[in-house]
Amino acid sequence: MVSEHAAQVLVASNRGPVSYTFGDDGTLTAKRGGGGLVSGLSAIGPGTDAVWVCAALGDGDREAVRRTDGRIDPAETGGRRVRMLDIAPEVFAGAYNGVANSTLWFVHHLLYQTPLEPSFGPEFRAQWAAYETYNRAFAEALADEAGEGAAVLVQDYHLALVPGMLRALRPDLRIGHFSHTPWAPVDYFRMLPDDIARQLLRGILGADRAAFLTHRWAEAFRACCASLLGGTGDTRIGVHGLGADADFLRERAHRPDVDERLVALRKEIGGGDADTAPRKTIVRVDRTELSKNIVRGLHAYRRLLTDRPEWHERVVHIAFAYPSRQDLAVYRDYTAEVSRVAQQINSDFGTDTWRPVILHVKDDFARSLAAYRLADVALVNPIRDGMNLVAKEIPVVSDHGCALVLSREAGAYEELGEDALVVNPYDITATASALHEALTMGPDERAERTKRLSAAATALPPQKWFLDQLEQLRAPRGE
Ligand code: G6P
Repeated sequence: MVSEHAAQVLVASNRGPVSYTFGDDGTLTAKRGGGGLVSGLSAIGPGTDAVWVCAALGDGDREAVRRTDGRIDPAETGGRRVRMLDIAPEVFAGAYNGVANSTLWFVHHLLYQTPLEPSFGPEFRAQWAAYETYNRAFAEALADEAGEGAAVLVQDYHLALVPGMLRALRPDLRIGHFSHTPWAPVDYFRMLPDDIARQLLRGILGADRAAFLTHRWAEAFRACCASLLGGTGDTRIGVHGLGADADFLRERAHRPDVDERLVALRKEIGGGDADTAPRKTIVRVDRTELSKNIVRGLHAYRRLLTDRPEWHERVVHIAFAYPSRQDLAVYRDYTAEVSRVAQQINSDFGTDTWRPVILHVKDDFARSLAAYRLADVALVNPIRDGMNLVAKEIPVVSDHGCALVLSREAGAYEELGEDALVVNPYDITATASALHEALTMGPDERAERTKRLSAAATALPPQKWFLDQLEQLRAPRGE
C-alpha cells in the first residue's frame, strides 16, 4: 500500500534543511542546516512535491517531530516537504557518532595515522548494529513515502545500506546514491573488517546509480568493488561535480546584514588609515574538523610571518572555524587545538595595533560572506575533501578578485587546479610559500585567474547538479 503522501521524487540524508534548538523559554527555533550536502540539496525546489527524508538530530528536532508527526511545516523549510525521522537517541549515537563520524569519515578522509587508530571491537559491533537499524528506518520511511516507480536519491556515507534495503522492499523504485565525501583508496578502505566493507559496498550497489563528486572518488569506489566483490554489477557509476550557486551567493552577499558585518570586520582588521596601506587578508571558512587541516594552515601562516617579516602589520588571517560534531572527543580536542594555535600566533607576533589572526567560531553565514568579499587570498588546504564548496564560493563572491591556495587533495582541485596555487596539504613550508606568492600576485593575473576560477566553480550549479542526476536515474535502464 502506497501512502496518501506518495511522492515521485524523494531525497534522503542524515542532516535535513532545517534543525531545531530549544530556547530558554522552551520555544523551538528553526535553523538552516550546514555543510556542502545541505547547500547542494537546497536546490530541491520550494514548490515541487519532492519529499526530503532526514533524521532528527537532537532534542529540539525530536520535539519538532513529536509536534508535527514528522511532517515539518513547509513554512520553516523554505517551502520544502520534509519528513523528519525520530531515531532513538542510542541508535542515532551509534550510527552517526560511532560508525559515520568516528569510522567511515576517518576512512574516506585518510585520517587514521598512528596513534589515532581505528578500533573494531565489541563497541564498534554494537555501533554497527545501530547503523543498520538507522539505515533500515530510512529505507522503511522511503518505501512508505514513495509513489509507484518514484526516483529516490540517497545521500552520503550515513546511508550506505539504504539502497540495498530499499531495493528489497520496493523493486519498482529508481534508486540513486550520492557520496559527498571522497572515497578511500582500496588498500585504506580494506582497513575495515571484510564483512563490513562488503556490506557497505553491496548496500550502495543496491542503487541503479552510484554517483560521486569527482572521477577520482568514483574510480576509488570502482577499485574497492573490484577488489572485494569482483565488480560493480549492474550499478552505473556517475560523476557530478557540484558547483557554487552564483546567483544566490551574489545576491545574498550584498544584503544589508552582510554590509554590516563587512564594516565590523574591517574594524577588526585595522590598518588602512592615513599612514598605512590597507591590510591584505587571507580568508578560510570551515567546519572545524580534522580533514580541513586548519591547524597546519595556521602553522603555515606562522611560517610566513617567521620567514618573511615584511608581512608584519600588513596581513591578517581571517579564520572562521565553526565547531562540528562536538559530541566526539577527537573533534572537541581539535577545536581546542585550533584556538590554542591561533592565540599563540597572536601572542607571539601581535602588537598594540595588529592582531595577526582573527578567529571566529560562532557560525554566522552573513559574516562568512563578508569575509569572502574581503578576501585577497583564500586558503583551502584540506587533507582530503569530497569537493570543498568554499574554494568555489570565494572567487565568485570576492569584491576585488582573490588568489586561491588549494590543496591538491580537495575534490575542487579537479576543476580549479589550473588557476589555483596548488599545495600538498602536509607541506607547511610549501603552503607558506604559496601564501606569499598569492599575496604578491599582480592585479591583472589575479583578476584573470579569478574570472576563470569563477567560471569553473559555477559550471554546474546546484539546481542543475540535482536535475542531471534525476534525469540520469530516470533514463531507461541499460542506457
Ligand atoms: C559533509 C558531509 C555531509 C554533512 C556535512 C556536515 O559535507 O558530506 O553529509 O552533512 O559534512 O556535517 P554534519 O555531521 O554536521 O552533518
